Amino acid sequence: MEFGVFLPIANNGWLMSRNAPHYRPTFELNLEIARKAEEYGFSFALSMVRFLGFGGDTAHWDESLESFTMMAGIAALTRRIKLFSSVAILTMPPAVVARMASTIDAIAPGRFGVNIVTGWSKPEFVSLGIWPGDEHYKHRYEHASEYVQIMRSLWETGESTFHGVHRQTEGAKLRPRPRQIEIIGAGQSIEGMKFVAEQGDYNFIIGLGINMPCVCAPIIDRLIKAGMQSGRDIGAMTLFMIIAEDSDEEAWAKWSHYQAGIDHAALRTAAEFASHNRTLSEQSSSNMITQGVGSVNSNMGTLIGSYKTVARLLDEMAEMEGLSGVMLTFDEFLTGMDKFGQKIRPLMKSGISREATSSVASGR
Ligand SMILES: Cc1cc2nc3c(=O)[nH]c(=O)nc-3n(C[C@H](O)[C@H](O)[C@H](O)COP(=O)(O)O)c2cc1C
Repeated sequence: MEFGVFLPIANNGWLMSRNAPHYRPTFELNLEIARKAEEYGFSFALSMVRFLGFGGDTAHWDESLESFTMMAGIAALTRRIKLFSSVAILTMPPAVVARMASTIDAIAPGRFGVNIVTGWSKPEFVSLGIWPGDEHYKHRYEHASEYVQIMRSLWETGESTFHGVHRQTEGAKLRPRPRQIEIIGAGQSIEGMKFVAEQGDYNFIIGLGINMPCVCAPIIDRLIKAGMQSGRDIGAMTLFMIIAEDSDEEAWAKWSHYQAGIDHAALRTAAEFASHNRTLSEQSSSNMITQGVGSVNSNMGTLIGSYKTVARLLDEMAEMEGLSGVMLTFDEFLTGMDKFGQKIRPLMKSGISREATSSVASGR
């Protein structure tokens, strides 16, 4: 099982609570996390794209760096880890993004990929003056498909002439061409998975519940079936937050403390942002966000417990049919990464990287 980290490019990461650690999304913080990830043997780091936060008592995500420019900096200062930036397809033409990606590939050859975001929160794009109308929700994955076809053509052949419904190019060129750029998606809807099955390399599956590492198995199954239908092998990655301490009791006490400080106002705004999409299928993640009010990290599964408990839960996850890996978030990223690398991973039966672990511990 591969490990990745979801970098906190926006303030406070993925906990909307007055009682959770509050921090700014500085470049230094994200770089340090990416370096720790590299040393602890993680395969990749992903940063999201956001243009509006959710406010509330904690000003959740009101501060955010930009995904491509941040990753370009991190690319120059890391050696091995794969890096993914996110693009909201409404914001930039695909030929421009293809060149940005190709430039980061020049900094970190073969280590860069792009997460395609179709856009679930209308107010973000209204704020930028680029919302094309609510029709976008209906056609967003058709649009994404045209977008990726143009980028792939530029990366693979150095040229693109494409006359789509949503995107057009006429003799666009790209030199130098990148070594290799992977495309990932994170939609949970049927249409989102079909898009990745046809055009992408990996899809993220949002983990569900607390200490239920395998409850998302049917969703992974759905992705694999979509891949079979398009004749492509698609990697499935889950998304989980880890809250780990010496004992189960301490970890649960931390979680209860976070829950007690839940930022209802920020959660309500997130739900309101997601509610504009009237075309939602049952599986869509926007639906989950809309329904998720009540949990401090409504968007992802959570593993809570002692290092031993979390190692056991991750081992259970590793057994899941068709799973390629898991992307992790933490309540506190720097200490969380250290706990994971030094205390949890060595207890796991699957894939221990002792060499990497010891090099971080010794500060090399
Ligand atoms: C791992 C992961 C990364 C994501 N990154 C972003 C992002 O950078 N920006 C964003 O607006 N939404 C992001 N999302 C939300 C997805 O792109 C979202 O699921 C999608 O836009 C809604 O699609 P759906 O209706 O097909 O589920 C992310 C979701 C996951 C699970």
